[in-house]
Amino acid sequence: MSIHYGLKGIVALESNISRIDGGRSILEYRGYNIHNLAANASFEETAYLLLKGKLPTTLELKKFSETLAERRELPGKIIGVLYNLPTINYPTVILRTIYSYLGDMDEKLFQINSEELMRKAIDLIAKTPTIIAYYQNIRENKPLTHPNKTLSHAANFLWMLNGIEPDRVEEKALDLDLVLHAEHTLNASTFAARIAASTLSDMYAGIVSATGTLFGPLHGGASHNVIKMLRELEGKDAKDIEKWIDNKLQKRERVMGFGHRVYKTLDPRAKELRKLAKKLDNLKGNAWIAVSDKLTEIVYRKKRIYPNVDFYAASVYANLGIPEDQYINMFVMGRIVGWITHMMDQYQNNKIIRPLQKYIGKEERAYIQIDKR
Ligand code: SDX
Repeated sequence: MSIHYGLKGIVALESNISRIDGGRSILEYRGYNIHNLAANASFEETAYLLLKGKLPTTLELKKFSETLAERRELPGKIIGVLYNLPTINYPTVILRTIYSYLGDMDEKLFQINSEELMRKAIDLIAKTPTIIAYYQNIRENKPLTHPNKTLSHAANFLWMLNGIEPDRVEEKALDLDLVLHAEHTLNASTFAARIAASTLSDMYAGIVSATGTLFGPLHGGASHNVIKMLRELEGKDAKDIEKWIDNKLQKRERVMGFGHRVYKTLDPRAKELRKLAKKLDNLKGNAWIAVSDKLTEIVYRKKRIYPNVDFYAASVYANLGIPEDQYINMFVMGRIVGWITHMMDQYQNNKIIRPLQKYIGKEERAYIQIDKR
């Protein structure tokens, strides 16, 4: 019985949703290369592709985008909950809490026919930016900026967050970031969503489970730690940065934003996000890429590992003025499409997910009454 810690190298299922070739830095959604999608497809078009398995026609995309826009507003009761939250310390904890309430309000919670699943999917994708923006408005003691149906998914989020419509560059930057985060085969949070679906639990439960799993610093929580690292190192010369890295490595700590279980070359999404972050740096007069490139060179020289998607995403969000404890929620805003697509896939051809373990404890022990212990 050989054990694969972290299920490293284990093939758990078949899927036609996305493909990674970790040795050749390839990622495809439904067979379309991520670089082609990054250059041509909007988040709405990418969401349609993942959910339906094909690129939409102009009319299909228009209808899909309008349906999403129609479903952005939150029910009054949920807005009431947001105003009465006892605390708002961790925005991702609030997000998963509101997902639970949305599920509790769904009269067809356990219905998993394809029409019902698509309805829940649209609702969850459409409402995620609103949940995130609304409690940011509330924690900043600002009035709610309600959704604007005429704006794209990305532009509408920035409108609700800041109370002003983004310029075209900012809209395109967030849109591209959402495309790049939308799906990534069987990462930990997607697997968590599939495990929930495999017990025929509801879609909201799967999203709550996935959001909680993404929260970890080894997964989606990395980008928040990356920006803290960049802030600490910005302006330092290569020598000081190298000292900082050496100190971390000596303590066997991980350098956040680097390494990947599958990519043993540069994560193709990091390549796209570096280009985007550099463009935004120049526009906004920041220097995140300068310190990032120094870090990348040193970490590669010492550990032969590359930046992952979270590394440059942090610089994109910093340039877009996203509050730092909301970086994980930007990841959720994109990846919720992949989580839902995988849950639909799991429901369609289900087998409950239940692996084995190798027991290494004592066996057949005699029970000792408490007064004899
Ligand atoms: C995401 O799975 C996905 O697809 C995830 C994701 C997605 O889109 O869903 O791509 C998103 O989660 C990206 C990863 C974000 N996390 C981080 O940036 C945190 C830092 N990274 C590491 O913790 C690590 O690289 C993981 C968790 C990403 C991967 O872990 P693995 O595959 O289990 O690799 P490992 O921890 O066994 O490390 C292998 C070797 C070790 O060397 P030794 O101890 O054996 O000598 O590489 C070293 C590690 O020390 N290493 C690192 C490192 N990552 C790996 N050393 C320093 N810093 C790092 N970041």
